[in-house]
Amino acid sequence: MSESLYERLGGTEGITNIANDVIDNHLANQAIAKRFENSAPSKLKNAAATFFIAGTGGPDVYKGKDMLAAHKGMNISNAEFMAVLDDALDALAKNNIGQREQEEVLFVLYSMRSQVMFV
Ligand code: HEM
Repeated sequence: MSESLYERLGGTEGITNIANDVIDNHLANQAIAKRFENSAPSKLKNAAATFFIAGTGGPDVYKGKDMLAAHKGMNISNAEFMAVLDDALDALAKNNIGQREQEEVLFVLYSMRSQVMFV
């Protein structure tokens, strides 16, 4: 497997489409929508896309906070964390991303759990 996850998710264009769908899913997801009620959707979409572009082997375009700093003091629950994973998997499926890549993204997201929760 020589292609990076970035390339296999469709590069900057593909990941931008996926990230937009992830945020649309969050804003419609009863379990977490309230968390984002004071955030501009366009800012959330840009942060999600650039974070994932940089984190999957694409250009280093992310300018936001690290995950610990971004979620400090939020007291995120297990149910909220699962809701974010569900929204991400739904967005990947909607964008016709293969199972192997879905598994890799799920693993990357899950591995950040301790930086997002209990902080
Ligand atoms: C692995 C899981 C997660 C990842 C990769 C992630 C990623 C991010 C990123 C990249 C940012 C932007 C930080 C910045 O712009 O400086 C952010 C902000 C934020 N995240 Fe997460 N997040 C995760 C889980 C969660 C969960 C479970 C919640 C709660 C439902 C949550 C709520 C928020 C909120 C409220 C913000 C601030 C939005 C704003 O600045 O307007 N995140 N997250």
